Amino acid sequence: MILVTGAAGGSQGGTGRQVVDLLLERGEEVRAFVHSDDDRAAELRKLGVEVVVGDLCEIAAVRPALRGVRRAYFTYPVTAGLLDATAAFAAAAREAGVERVVEVSQLDASPEAGTPRMRRHWLSEQVFDWAGVGAVHLRAGVFFENLAVVAAASGNRELALPLGGPDTLIPLVAAADVARVGAGLLLDPGPVDDTADPVCLVNGQMATIGEVADAFGIPYVDVPPEEWEARAMEIYRDEVAVEHLTHLWALFRFIGAGHHPVYGVYESIERYGGRPPMTIREFAQGLR
Ligand SMILES: NC(=O)c1ccc[n+]([C@@H]2O[C@H](COP(=O)([O-])OP(=O)(O)OC[C@H]3O[C@@H](n4cnc5c(N)ncnc54)[C@H](OP(=O)(O)O)[C@@H]3O)[C@@H](O)[C@H]2O)c1
Repeated sequence: MILVTGAAGGSQGGTGRQVVDLLLERGEEVRAFVHSDDDRAAELRKLGVEVVVGDLCEIAAVRPALRGVRRAYFTYPVTAGLLDATAAFAAAAREAGVERVVEVSQLDASPEAGTPRMRRHWLSEQVFDWAGVGAVHLRAGVFFENLAVVAAASGNRELALPLGGPDTLIPLVAAADVARVGAGLLLDPGPVDDTADPVCLVNGQMATIGEVADAFGIPYVDVPPEEWEARAMEIYRDEVAVEHLTHLWALFRFIGAGHHPVYGVYESIERYGGRPPMTIREFAQGLR
């Protein structure tokens, strides 16, 4: 039995939903943890998945969901509550004797990272490591979907971001590739022990923001950072998401066409996901 959180999917990447599909294709038994009992949950039940409804921040909901589970996928959207959810999940997974938790983190999760959310992801990784649940941290670059949301907010007329010139680089990955790596690691029959490297870098492409806009077939527009923050609240209606993205874009703007130690394309996608990374152009073509 494999427990998948974020199983209904959502607006950030829908990785949990895609992991469910990949596991079902492989004939695995899946228990889906969803936030609300809506149409998405009904769809999962139709697929033969056991559905548990609850709040990941609430230990009383998480504890029973992990009973009888050996492997689990943990994802929590960019909103308040990541550390509460992590603590509840790690404690319950430890109690249940879970042998592997594959959890979604961010490319530069570190104590010195440039956004509060990335620093929280590092703390979350620490908690999973201490719990001794065979944690693997999927440190992912910016999801293509993230930029598609920005384009959609303008009616797909422009890609307006506070990133400086069009040659500013962004580390990018398809949420589908993150899900493939996640599913691959859940199914990987290899040993799970304390000597295994818990960090798995998942980034599929380095592209400039000009190239991204080109792939979407719209112009890139450099927006002043203050203007972006005001617009962002209208798009996301979530303070944590706006705080994270405002800091993230400022970081990319500062680095520009330069280099950061985590920038790169990683072989994890091909190794665990079974195919080369999707490109932003392929992703954009799929949206048309
Ligand atoms: N977006 C990016 O560019 C990017 C880049 C790198 C890493 N990441 C990481 O990717 C992760 C999010 O990706 P994702 O594809 O899983 O997001 P997603 O598609 O937005 O899915 C999030 C899921 O979590 C559920 N959920 C929300 N709050 C919950 C709660 N309190 N209890 C139980 N379930 C809850 C949502 O359900 P409802 O819809 O019903 O609320 C939804 O199904 C984050 O950790 C983020 O840091 C994102």
